[in-house]
Amino acid sequence: MKKIIMKRSLAIEIKGLRKTYAGGTKALKGLNLSVEEGDFFALLGSNGAGKTTTIGILTSLVNKSAGKVHVFNYDLDKDINAVKSQIGVVPQEFNFNVFEKVIDIIVCQAGYFGVPRKIAEKRAEEILKALDLWDKRNKVSRSLSGGMKRRLLIARALIHKPKLLILDEPTAGVDVELRYGMWKYLKELNKEGMTILLTTHYLEEVEQLCKNMAMIREGKVIAQGSVQELLKSLEKQSYVLEVYNNEKAQKQIMEVEIAANESITALIQKLSEKGILVNDIQPKTNRMEQLFLKLLK
Ligand SMILES: Nc1ncnc2c1ncn2[C@@H]1O[C@H](COP(=O)(O)OP(=O)(O)OP(=O)(O)O)[C@@H](O)[C@H]1O
Ligand SMILES: [Mg+2]
Repeated sequence: MKKIIMKRSLAIEIKGLRKTYAGGTKALKGLNLSVEEGDFFALLGSNGAGKTTTIGILTSLVNKSAGKVHVFNYDLDKDINAVKSQIGVVPQEFNFNVFEKVIDIIVCQAGYFGVPRKIAEKRAEEILKALDLWDKRNKVSRSLSGGMKRRLLIARALIHKPKLLILDEPTAGVDVELRYGMWKYLKELNKEGMTILLTTHYLEEVEQLCKNMAMIREGKVIAQGSVQELLKSLEKQSYVLEVYNNEKAQKQIMEVEIAANESITALIQKLSEKGILVNDIQPKTNRMEQLFLKLLK
């Protein structure tokens, strides 16, 4: 019997990507990256690592110096318009016309992608309502708050129903409540099948949202894999404990380190057997932050 091998299709396939800017800065030095269709993917790295440059190339705002880029199997070199039509992008910097009305910014963007006006207007309503911006539709974008501007960028990115949504630090400067709302919305989009690629410096966000991740350093991917697997690879986790000694009834702060696969409850149990009661417990650093620093070492 013939075996049918199902090849998982890739939303993004980047091979040997290089970018040298006009001034001579080598921003990308042979970057390789694969993102599967349907993934929620985090692109991480320190300031200047090359994240925005990579996104710029994917979205045709930056010309690459060398390498191959495929988006849903479309070759960026041969089929730039097909690549463009697959992607919705939320850029790091606000780049809409500040004197234009919210609704016009969205409908005008739909026009670039050939979405008929009637359809665009209907979709704009859905999206603006989902992002809690419908009341602001007739306001000029300049009058929106920072968090509203971020959501406007998301709305604009979605108007042509892209299969791939790319967000460059979408939650920078967004308050906690709004951030949670945005996470919920992005999770829903991903559930409905949209592939999402995200850069962020909020590592908690990665833990909350993303399935896979890649770490970029100086223009190259230095680690790629499942967020959970990479977290497991952390050998140790440090905790700060506030403890009471039964006899002295005196508060003390102590620091403990346990292997990532050991449970903190077992430790608390052991301490209590020795007459030490744990009052409060805090991870010394966020797990994602530890991973980040470890990968960069
Ligand atoms: N238009 C440009 N002209 C010249 N150099 C640039 C340009 N854009 C970026 N660079 C340089 O390329 C390198 C990578 O920058 P990039 O913006 O891709 O980093 P990033 O990972 O997005 O950083 P951040 O986390 O700060 O947003 C940096 O050294 C930066 O100074
Ligand atoms: Mg950037």
